[in-house]
Amino acid sequence: MKQEKVLIIGSGGQIGVELAMALRKVYGTDNVIASDLREAHPLLKDAGPYVILDAMDGKAIHELVKKEGITQIYLLAAMLSATGEKAPMKAWDVNMNSLLQVLEIGVQEKLTKIYWPSSIAVFGPTTPTLNTPQQTIVEPRTVYGISKYTGELWCQYYNQRWGLDVRSIRYPGLISWKSEPGGGTTDYAVEIYHEALKNKKYTSFLSENTYLPMMYMDDAIRATIELMEAPVEMMKTRMSYNLSAMSFSPKEIAAAIQKHIPDFTIDYKPDFRQAIADGWPKSIDDSVARSDWGWRNNFDLDSMTADMLMHLREKMG
Ligand SMILES: NC(=O)c1ccc[n+]([C@@H]2O[C@H](COP(=O)([O-])OP(=O)(O)OC[C@H]3O[C@@H](n4cnc5c(N)ncnc54)[C@H](O)[C@@H]3O)[C@@H](O)[C@H]2O)c1
Repeated sequence: MKQEKVLIIGSGGQIGVELAMALRKVYGTDNVIASDLREAHPLLKDAGPYVILDAMDGKAIHELVKKEGITQIYLLAAMLSATGEKAPMKAWDVNMNSLLQVLEIGVQEKLTKIYWPSSIAVFGPTTPTLNTPQQTIVEPRTVYGISKYTGELWCQYYNQRWGLDVRSIRYPGLISWKSEPGGGTTDYAVEIYHEALKNKKYTSFLSENTYLPMMYMDDAIRATIELMEAPVEMMKTRMSYNLSAMSFSPKEIAAAIQKHIPDFTIDYKPDFRQAIADGWPKSIDDSVARSDWGWRNNFDLDSMTADMLMHLREKMG
């Protein structure tokens, strides 16, 4: 079997740091090149091959792919939902053009696989909000959601037209302790743990009963690698797979934290992100991913909360 050589674009962010570390365990440190616009994240510094690379610079990506004999690209660079609403044209430009260039390189260089994440942001206020199915009404209202849904269609197109093996997951909000979130609408569910430990209080930018689908990073990383390792015949859709683990509101995550920190308090000051959250599903039906390639989540709200608090306590010393 041919040795895979992986390039991760945008590996300095919330997902990329942990995904780079996990992929290095699978393929070997030297076979996974991490890259980002920014200098290496402390966890990736001196930990394996790292280059500064702009996801918009197709020529530089193409040259690197040829020089290093890259066989797989994970494209993570993007502008997320909340940041995207502040600069819609830039978000469209970054999210679309990075993907189209990588798909083209994938065809030209006959890459074995490409990974590109989508999001629950593809859904909009006209989508059924409870147990949102894999295939349903899709009318996103944010530039981020529009770019993700368009991207899914391009991934499907490149698969059908050129046979490119592009795989994708619609991540829910992701919660992690190793790396920081990058400007999404679900970031509150990470900030709340930090503030609970530092100040024993948190002001949520979403209202108390705003339910959103969420997932612990350990599950998200494992899902990503399991999807990419699954035999090709298990890929029954080339749109992105719905994926789910848990669904909770700010009030419920606060209650889960209070089981460990009884004097923790929360109050609510919704901002512009409330409108984004109100247009998204409250829970996701991921039965297609479960039956196509065997997805199973490990963490629920209580087990995630215990793990987050334990690791953050250690990290904060
Ligand atoms: N974190 C989540 O909850 C979540 C949920 C759904 C989907 N996603 C998707 O997963 C992917 C990664 O998300 P994340 O949370 O790690 O995001 P992030 O914002 O934390 O990280 C993105 C990284 O991309 C880099 N980047 C931005 N523009 C770049 C460019 N032009 N060239 C190179 N690097 C560039 C940034 O420096 C950053 O390190 C994105 O496509 C995002 O849409 C994330």
